[in-house]
Amino acid sequence: MSENATIQIQSGSVPEDPNVKATKPQSCVLVIFGITGDLARRKLIPALYHLAKANALPENFAVVGFSRSAKDKEALRERLYESAQTLSRSKGNIDREVWDKFIAKVDCVAGSGDDPGAYARLREKLAQVDEEFGTQGNRLYYLSVAPRLFPMILNQLQDAGMIYPPSQTDRWARVIVEKPFGHDRASAESLNSLVAEVLEERQTYRIDHYLGKETVQNILAFRFANAIFEPLWNYKYIDHIQVTAAEGLQVKGRGAFYDQTGVGRDIIQNHLLQILALVLMEPPVSLDGDHVRDQKVQAIRSLAPVPAEDVVFGQYEGYKEVEGVAQDSRTPTFMAMKLKVNNWRWNGVPIYMRAGKAMEGRDTEVAIHFKPVPNYLFGDKALKPNVLVLQIQPNEGISLHFSSKVPGEDIRIGHVEMQMRYSEAFDRQPGDAYERLLLDGMRGDTTLFARRDEVDEAWAWIDPILKGWEGGQEPIPTYAVGENGPESAAKLVERDGYNWRPIG
Ligand code: BG6
Repeated sequence: MSENATIQIQSGSVPEDPNVKATKPQSCVLVIFGITGDLARRKLIPALYHLAKANALPENFAVVGFSRSAKDKEALRERLYESAQTLSRSKGNIDREVWDKFIAKVDCVAGSGDDPGAYARLREKLAQVDEEFGTQGNRLYYLSVAPRLFPMILNQLQDAGMIYPPSQTDRWARVIVEKPFGHDRASAESLNSLVAEVLEERQTYRIDHYLGKETVQNILAFRFANAIFEPLWNYKYIDHIQVTAAEGLQVKGRGAFYDQTGVGRDIIQNHLLQILALVLMEPPVSLDGDHVRDQKVQAIRSLAPVPAEDVVFGQYEGYKEVEGVAQDSRTPTFMAMKLKVNNWRWNGVPIYMRAGKAMEGRDTEVAIHFKPVPNYLFGDKALKPNVLVLQIQPNEGISLHFSSKVPGEDIRIGHVEMQMRYSEAFDRQPGDAYERLLLDGMRGDTTLFARRDEVDEAWAWIDPILKGWEGGQEPIPTYAVGENGPESAAKLVERDGYNWRPIG
């Protein structure tokens, strides 16, 4: 046996307890605004197809797409098939029988978002669909369009009488809105106010697809369904935490959007803060959506303001050549920072966070580094502190690094890694986040969607960091494609005596 070894955990069991089974989705029509767009073709339609294949869609169900270019139902269906065949996780392997049955429930209305006539046509179409598919007047609207169009679409839907309040109990209307939810705190707040004029909070589903990932949801289960970790989950035992969201991908085809957004708004304000909130939060009273979200809001609210010397911005070489990106762009494609949490549990525990495009590879993880033991026994260099890694993606799983005696007559300490991989432990790959979130929308479960105050707190924290950078003049440090940020990113942790964990 070498001094470093990996132990794999292979068996998992799936609970049969009916209390932990999800409720069935309700009959409804899913109305997708922007059905010919990238998100719908890449994610939403494939997610629906996979749900159809798993027999998880409601019995009475239909999809109606709304878009300027969705003029011909057959042409749209063909286009969606091509996208599913080339872009989905079942690419090249779409089951034609399942597909045909599913796509027969997909219809469309062509029209412009500002044309009241188009909404009248949409209303008529939905009434026909209710007749044909038994969808009972229930509507799940999905705004898969640019955020500037949200208020207009919502107002038009309301004027056409297509949004009914939750107090109406014979049918329901819910709205899923895509990120980015605002560009900063003020714009998010005004968007939230506009949305609140038309919808009640419990009808508003702000999507953050990271919350639909099994590994993100498992943070709650892992922390609160095990006896052995939670007692250690605080400043007494944890030395520091590293959170990484690395992508090998570059910004291609979305230059104009990305240049206005940058990694801070694209990944950190939403995906990473959501993950971090689940790691930092106190136990909720129950798994009820609002109880969980109450605790997440508190966690985000506890983040201390981050001084400029604790933030590193970077841009990969070649980014400025991407179509749509300004020649003098200072937009960060990479950020690293040191965070502090102002509460009792996390007092003095630094959290290092980094996210970026064009890095060494794809790797999203949370690594909990425990404090070293008082080492009187094994010599100076022998011990490495324990590290618990929540591997969000890829190779979804959890691993625990600990010390062990190397077999032999001497006492020599080796380092081993105990691993759980979802694909092996439960004999299945975690499903796609959009599948879960679409079903939750159909069930009326808001737990995995961001509440208004969560979005607000996340902006309140990141706004000064981004505005501080945007108000400055200094050139942005660069990094080569395939490197993990500029040199200053490594220094940020080295000055505290640490190293980043390797990517991948
Ligand atoms: C999106 C961002 O929200 O998340 C993209 O806009 C990013 O830039 C993507 O690539 C990452 O999602 P995932 O699920 O592939 O990690």
